[in-house]
Amino acid sequence: MSDAEKTDRTEKRVFVKTFGCQMNEYDSFRIIKMLESHGYTRAESYKDADCILLNTCTVRQKAEDKVYSELGRIKKIKRSKPDLIIGVGGCLGQQEGRNLIKKYPYIDLVFGTQSMSRLPDMLAEAAENSATDTRIDYNDSIYPHADYTVAPGQTGSFISIMQGCDNYCAYCIVPYVRGRERSRTPEDILTEIRSLVRSGVKEITLLGQNVNSYGKGLEPGVSFPDLLAAINAVRGLERVRFVTSHPKDLSDDLIACFGDLDKVCEHIHLPLQSGSNEILQKMNRKYSRRDYLKKIDSLRLVKPGISITSDIIVGFPGETEQDFQDTVDIINDIRFTDLFIFHYTDRKGTKAATHPEKIPYDVKIKRLKILNDIQRDISHDINKQHIGRIEHVLFDGVSKKASSLLAGRTRTNIVVNCKGGSADLLGQIHPVKITRANIHSLSGELVVD
Ligand code: SAH
Ligand code: SF4
Ligand code: F3S
Repeated sequence: MSDAEKTDRTEKRVFVKTFGCQMNEYDSFRIIKMLESHGYTRAESYKDADCILLNTCTVRQKAEDKVYSELGRIKKIKRSKPDLIIGVGGCLGQQEGRNLIKKYPYIDLVFGTQSMSRLPDMLAEAAENSATDTRIDYNDSIYPHADYTVAPGQTGSFISIMQGCDNYCAYCIVPYVRGRERSRTPEDILTEIRSLVRSGVKEITLLGQNVNSYGKGLEPGVSFPDLLAAINAVRGLERVRFVTSHPKDLSDDLIACFGDLDKVCEHIHLPLQSGSNEILQKMNRKYSRRDYLKKIDSLRLVKPGISITSDIIVGFPGETEQDFQDTVDIINDIRFTDLFIFHYTDRKGTKAATHPEKIPYDVKIKRLKILNDIQRDISHDINKQHIGRIEHVLFDGVSKKASSLLAGRTRTNIVVNCKGGSADLLGQIHPVKITRANIHSLSGELVVD
């Protein structure tokens, strides 16, 4: 056996599977980088792995169910490979703690959303003895500063600028599993962005449950528009995006950034949740239908053509036919570029879970379908308006439809599949003439000058 083969055999290979939101993707990215600095390498699949870590989500019942069914799959792998270490972390880990090990005894360790720094120790201990371990106590410092590189060819990167949420929307588990809101310092964020840009990243997406309230508690004080202005000045960076914005905290200063800062892309995800004032109040969203419409007008005044996307929950407890109709009306009125529509599910420990007026499942699904049908037509109509126009597309890969097409995104975040380009254009922005509109994407041809 060669020396290289011997080294390979002593290396621990880890596979991290991510569920849920972009913040979890960022956490998984950090987990991998941290474990690499402790001598681990990345496994390509479950089959090659010595440890499997699931970074989980519990925001809706379906998200939780996906984790449980994955645990079923992993149980079979563990049976044929008893030394395999299995760890479950993230939001479901935080919520369930030791209960997970009680229910699924083949899990070796459970870690929470703010105890990720313990992972190297926990994994080393799990490899030495078979005792199970749970660490879900909050005490990691918020994303300590790090210089990161990305794989060659990667053009975009997420970066969490804050953690947690203080809003306690009545349906939402996030404040319970992610803890109180904490912001990273602008210095840490800028250092990380500069290092990503040096390694080839052109587009950054800033992440937080409510980025509009970024900076609370930082000394000296800094607002989200201040942070955006500083990021806009980073040389080599081409585009900046951010999610998610809470309508109640969307300030005039932030709206002005869409007009003033050239790298801030013309897209905002602004979750509405419901078009009914009564439901918004029961949800504890702290804005009215009118407040929301006013913000939309201001955004469109500052940046005509801005793409606005949103989240809607149907079937919140007590939602009447009239409440639902209010949502239908506001969707027809605003005409979002795209919508993520969810049917309400109870989350343990939230206020809405105790609400007695639950909506039957079939009514929720009927409402979901009505909204999906309305939105499909609106999205298609909006996309059709692009036909014949020139869009600037940042190419980030090959099309899922055909390997001869390049894929990229417009500044408004619409996917474009493009003819006439070649792989040497990846990571670059080029003009594309749009020739066809689908519901969720555009097709076009490279403009050659
Ligand atoms: N912080 C973001 C998003 C959080 S979760 C925000 O404030 O909007 C993403 C989306 O999941 C929410 O916008 C909401 O539409 C949906 N969601 C959250 N809890 C839910 C529940 N219990 N049932 C159904 N949908 C839910
Ligand atoms: Fe959940 Fe509301 Fe916080 Fe968003 S703002 S994470 S919906 S509590
Ligand atoms: Fe899910 Fe946690 Fe994100 S519950 S949506 S992974 S913050």
